[in-house]
Formats: sequence, structure tokens, C-alpha cells
Amino acid sequence: MQQLIGPFSQILTFGQTPVKGPLSTEQINIIHQGAVLFEDGIILKVGNFEELSKSPIAVHEIQGDHVLLPGLIDCHTHMVWSGSRAADFERRNSGYTYQQILAEGGGILDTVGWVRKSSAENLKMLLQGRVNRHLEDGITTIEVKSGYGLDEANELKMLEVIHQVNVDTKADLVSTFLGAHVCPKEFHKKEYLHYLLNEVAPKAKQWTHRADAFVEAEAFSVALARPYLEELIKMGFELTLHADQFSRGGSVLAVDLNARSADHLEATTTEDMLHLAQSNTVAVALPGASLGLGMPFTPARKLLDAGAILAIATDWNPGSAPGGDLVGQSSILAAREKLTAAEALSAITFRAALALGVTDRGRLIPGNLMDAAAFPTHDFREILYQQGHLKPDLVWKKGALLSSNGVNTKSNFKF
Ligand code: NIG
Ligand code: FE
Repeated sequence: MQQLIGPFSQILTFGQTPVKGPLSTEQINIIHQGAVLFEDGIILKVGNFEELSKSPIAVHEIQGDHVLLPGLIDCHTHMVWSGSRAADFERRNSGYTYQQILAEGGGILDTVGWVRKSSAENLKMLLQGRVNRHLEDGITTIEVKSGYGLDEANELKMLEVIHQVNVDTKADLVSTFLGAHVCPKEFHKKEYLHYLLNEVAPKAKQWTHRADAFVEAEAFSVALARPYLEELIKMGFELTLHADQFSRGGSVLAVDLNARSADHLEATTTEDMLHLAQSNTVAVALPGASLGLGMPFTPARKLLDAGAILAIATDWNPGSAPGGDLVGQSSILAAREKLTAAEALSAITFRAALALGVTDRGRLIPGNLMDAAAFPTHDFREILYQQGHLKPDLVWKKGALLSSNGVNTKSNFKF
């Protein structure tokens, strides 16, 4: 059955918004007093409310001012974990670095200890809670990595948990195999990568077509990562990389291997940025990790000016980025890096969709999924301005209304 929802004070469609480079407000393609017509979860038309409501269809009339955005997309998270790393935060703030804690066998490896001891049931419950929080924030597509198992049984346990939660919740979860997060204590690095290729990756393939690696001396150097990743490509995996977080090299590798995205990029040089700009590899900024570690932010302004595709994600994880607030963190990055609202909001909608290789969402246009979030304001600028405190009160996933936090929608079926 066709349904029409509206009127919205503004609909940010991103209908024609360019994929690469800087953006201004005019490029958001805003429709005022707009409405969306959809059927079976797919958008049929986006246009003026009065015009569209002339036809005899089911109209869901929204009361009060609202700005409608495409359902938000968080394209980089590690949301399956148990335990806490509050002690790491305190140690870092007392002078230790993230890398020192890792080199001493703590950090990520502490979380690995917790995850190995946790049942799939427990991890599922924890992930479900985090996914529900994201849905309430208007995030309808979420990438989730493995990488805290680091052996066959536990990497597969994590991937299966992601699959189960994808089935059980309304959000779309896109899983990524991150066996090469760091080397577990029981292996040397080369042997471990060999083990991943021979024993784990072929089985991980049944759960996901995406793979990631943490390219950094403390994890896996470019020299170690390259042959491992080339083998994964031969097995049919698409790549995304943790690149240039503390030292450069990873983003060049990502571009060379035609990865979907290169994520972090805090240490990326001007030359690396040009390299990214000439490719279709999405540059993903993770401001939550910069905040958690007290590190510089990704040079998002320079990346855009160079002509790169910029996405922003939370990196939601227990170590570097425990906050998980996509809009709040995008707001902080926008203020620090001088990003326009068009740039920051594109980075968590259609540009983030490109990082995941999904092209059926991120823009409110005919043919796309009716994934959308309505924020209670008449002016889209309020969303970033309020630093994540303005929450959507209506969220749709594939046309199904997920939440209506006290908003009156007046359904008025005209046949
Ligand atoms: O993206 N840098 C590597 N991986 C994650 C952190 C994971 C953790 O510390 O648990 C990141 O920041
Ligand atoms: Fe990460």
C-alpha cells in the first residue's frame, strides 16, 4: 500500500549532491514543506506535501516542525564487546600512550580476554542494546567489526552474533572480519596472518564479504599487511583499513588495493590526501577516537579541499571511542575542522553509504530505501549546532516507523 508522510518543514534529500569534495548548503537539495511517498519500504516520490497529498492515498500527517534526513549511517564500529577499559582511559591520562598499553599486552588484548570469556548470548544482548541506542539516534545502517576474538572460534562467534542481531533488530548491520586487529599473545605476527588466511578467513566468508586490518607498526606493518590483504581479495573480500592512525602508510595501501575506505587518517600527509582524492576510496574520520585518546583530529577540511570523499563514523569501541554519539561527534569535528553542515551531514549519510558499498540509501530519492529520521526543528542547522542533543522523534526503517517519541502523527486514510 502506498503511504505518504509529511509535511516536513525541510527534507534534506541530497538528491544531486556530489560524491567528492567540498559542499555548500545549496547542494543539499532541500525541499520545503515536503513529503515522501513510499511503498513496500521503497521511496516512490519526494516532493511538495500539498501536491502529493492530492492523490487518494494513505496520508500520515506529521504534527509540528520537523526536518527529515536520510537514515544516518555509521560506517565504522566495533560494537560487539564486553568489559570496560575505563582503567586504560585513566592510565592514558596519567601519561601512558595507547600503543604502550597495547605493547604491554593490555588495551585491545584485554577486551579480547573479556570477549573470549563471554557467551554469544551475552554479546548478543550487549550489541542489541547498543544498536537500539543507535536506532533512537536515527542511525539505521551500522557497520560492525569482529576483531576481539582473534582465534577461529571467537572471531566466528562475533560474526555470528552480528548476524543474529541483524536478524533480530530493525537496523541493517554490515559486518566486517577484523581478524588482523592485533596479534594475539599465542602467535608471532607472520604465523598469525597465515593462520587467519588458512583457518579463519574461509569460514568468516560465510558471514561477511568485508575484511579490515589495523595497519600500524604495533599491529601489522604495511609490509606484513599487504600480502595478507592481497590473499583476502583473491578470496573475494572487499577491504576497509584502519589506516594512518599514528603513522602514515596505511592509506596508500588502501588506495593501492582499491579498498572501499581508509579509516582514521589522523597522521595522513598532504601527499596521501591527494592520493585518496584521486581514488574512490572513502576517507573516514573517527572523531570519537580523537576525543577518547586526546589525539589530533583527522584533517577533514584538507581532505575535502583535496577532493576526497569524506565520511564520519563513531568507531564505537571500548578502548579509544566508548561514546558512540555520531551526530555529537560530527558536530565537534565540524567545529574543529570547519565543515559546513552539508559536508558533515553528507559524511553520515550518502558518503558513508559509499564506504559500505551500499547505494540504495543515504539519499532521499525515488528507488532508495525509505530509511529516514525526523528531527523536531524547522531548521536543519539546529541538528549539528545542538551537538547531538537534538534527537529524532520519528525514525523509519524500510518504511516502518520505529519510534514516535511523543509526536502526534495523524493518520488519515483517504481512499
Ligand atoms: O579504531 N585502532 C584500532 N582499533 C580501534 C580501537 C579498538 C580498541 O582499542 O579496542 C580503533 O580505534
Ligand atoms: Fe576502529
